[in-house]
Amino acid sequence: MRMVDLIARKRDGHELSKTEIDFIVQGYTNGTIPDYQMSSFLMAAFFRGMTPIETANMTMAMVASGDTIDLSAIEGVKVDKHSTGGVGDTTTIVLAPLVAAVGVPVAKLSGRGLGHTGGTVDKFEAIPGFQAEISSEQFIKQVNEVKVAVTGPTGNLTPADKKIYALRDVTGTVNSIPLMASSIMSKKIASGSDAIVLDVKVGAGAFMKDLDSAKALAKAMVDIGNNVGRNTMAVISDMNQPLGFAIGNALEVKEAIDTLRGEGPEDLHELCLTLGSHMVYLAKQASSVSEARSKLEEAISSGRALETFKAFIAAQGGDASIVDDPSKLPAAAYRIEVKAKEAGYVSEIVADSIGTAAMILGAGRATKESEIDLSVGLMLHKKIGDEVKPGDTLVTIHSNRETVDDVIESIYESYTIASGKVEHPVLVHAEIH
Ligand code: URA
Ligand code: CA
Repeated sequence: MRMVDLIARKRDGHELSKTEIDFIVQGYTNGTIPDYQMSSFLMAAFFRGMTPIETANMTMAMVASGDTIDLSAIEGVKVDKHSTGGVGDTTTIVLAPLVAAVGVPVAKLSGRGLGHTGGTVDKFEAIPGFQAEISSEQFIKQVNEVKVAVTGPTGNLTPADKKIYALRDVTGTVNSIPLMASSIMSKKIASGSDAIVLDVKVGAGAFMKDLDSAKALAKAMVDIGNNVGRNTMAVISDMNQPLGFAIGNALEVKEAIDTLRGEGPEDLHELCLTLGSHMVYLAKQASSVSEARSKLEEAISSGRALETFKAFIAAQGGDASIVDDPSKLPAAAYRIEVKAKEAGYVSEIVADSIGTAAMILGAGRATKESEIDLSVGLMLHKKIGDEVKPGDTLVTIHSNRETVDDVIESIYESYTIASGKVEHPVLVHAEIH
């Protein structure tokens, strides 16, 4: 087999076989196929697309390139949730203990963040004492005992994806639906869960700016999962503004606690119930999605979700008393209010630039080497559709430096205030099965 022939076949719009895709992925990973040929292939795939079978084969070839996590020692159907991008997305912190509280085993592998705010591991590390670096033995034992555990990056998962994604990044081939779908799904499948709920974000702050492309990405990922024996569905949710009010690590932990108590922001609460009920249903802990939702509502109102969160924190060495007393979480030295200058209705909050404002404060990493400040961030007081009067607080900045003119500037840039009435945006746009 010669790479040049496979490039030409893809260029001419033909479907490649599993053997041919394996040859490309293995060859590129072990260095026998050079960057220039792989670049050419990726560009051909970008323009010609890939069939669902090719996309599934590409995914499994990337899974086979490295380690895979074996979760078979955990009882029950393991369900994972993945959100594509998003800013200040607190759903994982809420969902892990919430679905565990109704009996779904949660074995969560999470990363650290780059840009915007921290990743899920960073957020949990805002809890004093919390240890994300745990052994795989403790990880498995803890899921069996407490139903939920979170661990940082382990093993050498999908090295092919790392290498191909880095090449796509510099060859203008990131934004291809089959390439994105196989990249994301390869990591989920290597992480070992039996079923997957995808939260595909759409809107100004997301990878996918319009509903049709978000649906196409969701469908491509759902097809991969179902083609390789992992029960998969997707929810398309709105990212025209950040979810919830909190952006920043400790602030998001506090927001997650409020939500587990039933007192969180409406949009975050609703999205967690939507995603959570699909997780519970796929895990076969309810006979319908609506029964799953009632179980989650009961876990919140009875306090069982909060109890599970405490047991989980304690099992990972964290101080569980932060749940009853969130003032024990890291707090910033200064609070600075950003006030509305004009009257009207909020019509736009550019999630990207709000995320960047939080990063400038220190809530996210500018480079892989940067240290995160877990205490800083932003609390939004006004969301799209809310009425504002001059002098109303739009955002509170939690900062460890006194002067934050640069941050205030980018907050004003992200907010648009319209004079006429603006509707509250739809949160869940579609479900893809
Ligand atoms: N995230 C990924 O992991 N891969 C992509 O290709 C795009 C987003
Ligand atoms: Ca949030």
